[in-house]
Amino acid sequence: MVSRVIPVDPFDLVVFGGTGDLARRKIIPALFRRYCSGQVVEGTQVIAAARTDLDTEGYRNVAAASIREFSAGRACEDGTLERFLQMLAYVKLDATGEEGWSALADLIRQDRTRAFYLSVGPSLFAPIAARIRSHGLVNAGTRIVVEKPFGHDLESAKALNATLAEHFHETQIYRIDHYLGKETVQNLMAVRFGNVLFEPLWNAQFVDHIQITVAETVGVGLRGEYYDRAGAMRDMMQNHLMQLLCLIAMEPPARFEPDAVRDEKLKVIRALDAVEPHHIVRGQYDATSDSPGYREAVGHPRSTTESYIALKTHVSNWRWSGTPFYLRTGKRLVARSSVINVVFKDAPHSIFGADAGGAANILSIRLQPNEGITMHVTIKEPGQGGMRLIDVPLDMSFAEALGPEGQDPPDAYERLIMDVIRGNQTLFMRGDEVEAAWAWTDPIIRGWQARGEVPKPYEALSKGPIDADQLMRRDKREWRGIKP
Ligand code: BG6
Repeated sequence: MVSRVIPVDPFDLVVFGGTGDLARRKIIPALFRRYCSGQVVEGTQVIAAARTDLDTEGYRNVAAASIREFSAGRACEDGTLERFLQMLAYVKLDATGEEGWSALADLIRQDRTRAFYLSVGPSLFAPIAARIRSHGLVNAGTRIVVEKPFGHDLESAKALNATLAEHFHETQIYRIDHYLGKETVQNLMAVRFGNVLFEPLWNAQFVDHIQITVAETVGVGLRGEYYDRAGAMRDMMQNHLMQLLCLIAMEPPARFEPDAVRDEKLKVIRALDAVEPHHIVRGQYDATSDSPGYREAVGHPRSTTESYIALKTHVSNWRWSGTPFYLRTGKRLVARSSVINVVFKDAPHSIFGADAGGAANILSIRLQPNEGITMHVTIKEPGQGGMRLIDVPLDMSFAEALGPEGQDPPDAYERLIMDVIRGNQTLFMRGDEVEAAWAWTDPIIRGWQARGEVPKPYEALSKGPIDADQLMRRDKREWRGIKP
C-alpha cells in the first residue's frame, strides 16, 4: 500500500529553542522524514533560533547528529541528508532582549507561509510573541506553534491565552498535544465515524464502561524538576488522556473540520463530572536495585507529587449517562502500553445457561506499541458435546494489515508540523478547550492538596498501586492487563 504524499509549497519555519531536547529529538528529525518522503520540498527554510553560541554550519552538525540518532532506520536516498541540511540556518538570539531579531527578520521571506515554533518554556511565550509582532513578522500567512505544558492551572492557562491573543488571532495559534498526531489516535475517529458497525452501540445502553490506560516503563529521567511540579495529573491526564476521552465520547461532528471537531470535544470536557475523592488513586514508584525511586529521582525526599494516577469519571450527557470512564496513567509500570478498552454489556439473556461461560465483548484499541484493534467475541469452544463458550480475539495489527506503512507509521510530529504549514487546526487544541480541561482538573488537585493526601508507593515495573484495583473491584469490574 503506497500512501499519497501531497507536497507543500516551500515555507519558512523558525524553531525557537532550536538546540533544545524537543527540537533535536522530534522536530528536526520529523522535518527530515517529511523531506525524504517528498512532502517538504526544496526552497523551504528551517531557521533554528536559540541562545547557544553557534553558527549555521555548527547547527547543521548538531542537526545531522540528531537525525542519525532519532531517524535511524528510515530509508532515504543517498545524499538526502546533505541536501536537507542545506535548508537549515541558525540565528543566535535572545528571546528576552533584542540580540539576533534583526538577523532573523532579514532571513524570513515575504511570499510564503511562515511558522514560529515556540519549543521553549511557557515563561518565554510572552516575550517571544511580543518581539515577533514588534519586528513586523506577523502577516496573514503567520502561524505560531506552542507546546505543552500550556499553563499550570486555569488561571495561568488563561493568562497564556490572553498573551497570545494580544498578538495573534486564534486561527493562527496551534497548541500541540502530540497524542492527537499519533496515527492510531486519529484512527479512533476513523473507526467510530467511518464504519456503520460501532456507532449504534456507542452509548450507555450497550457500553458497560470504558478504560483508558497510558502506561510507561520509563521514570521521570532528567525532567525531575519540571515533573515534580506537574505530576501525572497535569503532565498526562489533563491533556493526553483527556483528549483520548474526548475522541471516544464526542458526538459525530457534522464535518471533519477544525471547529466542528473541537466544538464536540469541548462539549465532552464540559460534561465531565467532578471526581469524587474516593474515585482517585495516586501513587509514587519505588526504587529497584539499579534505579531510583520517585522521590530520589526528583531530588525531593518528601514530595507528594504523583507519578501514577487512576480515576473514575462520568460524562454527564444523554449518550453516556451511567457509563463510567476509568482512566489511568503512570511511569515505571510493567510495560509501555497505551490502550483504550470499550467494554460492552453482557448479552441480555443467555440461551446457553449461566454455566456456559463466555465473556463481554470488548473493543481494544491499541495506540502504542503494536498499533491495532482487537474485538473480543464469544464463540463455541471447539470439541465434542455440550455448549461451552469462550472468548476469542479478532485481532488486527496495523503492521500486518497495512504492510510497511503500518509497521512504521509517521511520528506524531511529522503529521502535526505539516498540518501547521497547511493551516489545518483540527488536531490542535483551541484556547477554550484547554481552559475547560484545567477547569475540570484544578478542583481535583486542590481537593487532594486540602486533604493533605500522600500518594501510595508502588513497586517499580508493576501495574501500579494495589488501591487502583479496588477502584474497579468496588464496581465489580477489573482493569485489563497492561501488556507490551
Ligand atoms: C509527554 C509527557 O507529553 O508525553 C511525558 O510530558 C511522557 O512525561 C510523554 O513521557 C509520553 O509520550 P509518548 O508519545 O512516548 O507516549
